[in-house]
Amino acid sequence: MSYQPLLGQKALVTGSSSGIGAGVALELAKAGADVVVNYSSSLSGAEKVVNEILALGRKAYPVQGDVSQQEHVDRMFDEMLSKWGTIDILVNNAGLQQDAPFVDMTLAQWNKVIGINLTGMFLCAQRAVREFIRRGTAPEGTRAIGKIINMSSVHEIIPWAGHANYASSKGGVRMFTQTLSQELAPQKIRINAIGPGAIATPINRPAWETPEALESLLKLIPYKRVGQAIDIGKAAVWLASDDSDYVNGQTLFVDGGMTLFPEFADGG
Ligand code: NAI
Ligand code: BGC
Repeated sequence: MSYQPLLGQKALVTGSSSGIGAGVALELAKAGADVVVNYSSSLSGAEKVVNEILALGRKAYPVQGDVSQQEHVDRMFDEMLSKWGTIDILVNNAGLQQDAPFVDMTLAQWNKVIGINLTGMFLCAQRAVREFIRRGTAPEGTRAIGKIINMSSVHEIIPWAGHANYASSKGGVRMFTQTLSQELAPQKIRINAIGPGAIATPINRPAWETPEALESLLKLIPYKRVGQAIDIGKAAVWLASDDSDYVNGQTLFVDGGMTLFPEFADGG
């Protein structure tokens, strides 16, 4: 039996029908968690992830919901609490890009990205925290009464021309994570973030799918490989488990060194 630090804990992973969210959902399940698989449009993607989790002997079900809509979030949480009784781990992963040069960016593009990447985290975190506080005790044999992991990005600290909405949303995620953690750590709630570098998923397909694009991307990654969803899933398991019990309000960059100013390796 593999190491299962999350045995029996109940997790919700937003946007987990593809990419990083799917990888996180699977790794949490391998670590023993039962997982609600939220999706916005791809039921088939969500069902695939659910079936893989069921095959591991854990519980899982898919739930549709747009994280930027309060009624959707309330419905997701109400259903989870009524089916499974509580929530122990929330992974705020849902996110998207709508890129445009700043002079051309529409208010709709700005609002959409902020609404899903940042406001969606507010809505989901608030429901999770209310439940942690209502329950008031940690799952048997564990320490924190609840854990939240926010999927940030290297772009919470690396500015990104042509992506003002996205980079601003991730900068917001950094301060959201730190502030919430400062406020809620006294109640034994742990809130941290992961800052992925370039992970091969649908969100950034053009950046890695051709040899030319890949060569250019690898110049930004000292470790010289593109990340995979499993790299993030393993970090999420650690942040959700007691192994990181003394870690509060941090962003763990999982980026092959992308935040190390690689362009300075031969310059400056
Ligand atoms: P992805 O496009 O495969 O995953 C994003 C997921 O969010 C999709 O399943 C999508 O359906 C879902 N989603 C979008 N809008 C939603 C909404 N309103 N409600 C619920 N779900 C919604 O791309 P990826 O890469 O897996 O992205 C996951 C997270 O990781 C995002 O927050 C992204 O910003 C972040 N990230 C990704 C990096 C990468 O290189 N792939 C790097 C850094 C951060
Ligand atoms: C973006 C990806 C990008 C990566 C590294 C992520 O936040 O969503 O498109 O490849 O950062 O720049």
